[in-house]
Amino acid sequence: TTSHRIAVIGGDGIGPEVTAEALKVLEAVPDATFEQTHYDLGAERYLMTGEVLPDTVLDEVRGHDAILLGAVGGRPGDPNLPPGLLERGLLLRLRFELDHYVNLRPSRIFPGVATPLADSVLAKGEVDFVVVREGTEGPYTGNGGSVRVGTPHEVATEVSLNTAYGVERVVRDAFTRAGARPRRRLTLVHKTNVLTHAGAVWSRLVREVGEEFPQVEVDYLHVDAATIFLATDPARFDVVVTDNLFGDIITDLAGAVTGGIGLAASGNINPDRTAPSMFEPVHGSAPDIAGQQKADPTAAILSAGLLLDHLGHHDAAARVERAVVEDLAARTAGGPRQTAAVGDAIASRAAG
Ligand code: NAD
Ligand code: IPM
Ligand code: MN
Repeated sequence: TTSHRIAVIGGDGIGPEVTAEALKVLEAVPDATFEQTHYDLGAERYLMTGEVLPDTVLDEVRGHDAILLGAVGGRPGDPNLPPGLLERGLLLRLRFELDHYVNLRPSRIFPGVATPLADSVLAKGEVDFVVVREGTEGPYTGNGGSVRVGTPHEVATEVSLNTAYGVERVVRDAFTRAGARPRRRLTLVHKTNVLTHAGAVWSRLVREVGEEFPQVEVDYLHVDAATIFLATDPARFDVVVTDNLFGDIITDLAGAVTGGIGLAASGNINPDRTAPSMFEPVHGSAPDIAGQQKADPTAAILSAGLLLDHLGHHDAAARVERAVVEDLAARTAGGPRQTAAVGDAIASRAAG
């Protein structure tokens, strides 16, 4: 067995609840042991101390092999928490500083899982795709500002940053993933018909990098049309590469159509391994159900599976996925279970 040091940031709302279950599963699998450092970052710490992510804490976090995160952010509209303060100051700061340029978001309809998709849609084929969402650029960089704030003449800009360097590296990662999958298909999702400047750099780099991957079939969809196909023919997708904001939006939709946001996992990957990668569910802190043991911890558990895979424990990762698939298949019987009961059930299957 190998031992790894992981930083654990439960965060806000249901974050700590689902993270506790993911940790149970990590503790249960053979082959790896984990030395955990817990960080109490999030809304509570901010309200008590005014701190969001002190530099010293960031430096400590850097020294770990990986990060497991729950969710960050308060109840939308909370007067004590400025909008975006935690999202930008904690979550996005980690993604940017640790160069998580690949935000990997797999979507799969697991056997027997209920989805809102019509039978005619499900009949079109197996749904198993992965979104490679760019994680360090786009409209997320804080490149904008406001003038004449609060007046009828207020003007606000939020400029999308797209560098050839940043686009090329995420596109190459997506092609590499597509080339390693049976269907070898890559779909660029963008809005090149309107966002012509950013669109040009994405299109050019997909074309250029694509020359290195002649075995990969390349497709393009405008993002609005991509949402149509996510609802009407998700089987058409294999690997999707897209910018930070489009990727955020289509992966919530992908989660909803493949069995619910409670199942959607993600990894914020630094493929060059110059800093630890970070694993978290796609969902947020869900203030509406926080503290009630109602949250589904499966997304957090599958994210822990992605962490295992990233650290080279492919058998353990497969074991976690198998345990989830078995648990999902057993779910139809009985009513809803508490968060901890789901975690216990999956952990015992993953250990067995
Ligand atoms: P959300 O994902 O927290 O919740 C959307 C809906 O999905 C809610 O009804 C919620 O109850 C439900 N839901 C989410 N996770 C669930 C789970 N595991 N099991 C069952 N139901 C679940 O999105 P939101 O309401 O837009 O955002 C709430 C807060 O979370 C905001 O502050 C937002 O900024 C933050 N957020 C953080 C992250 C993150 O940390 N990565 C992601 C998204 C949103
Ligand atoms: C996500 C979240 C974040 C994002 C927010 C909370 C900054 O929605 O992880 O999907 O937009 O990336
Ligand atoms: Mn999101």
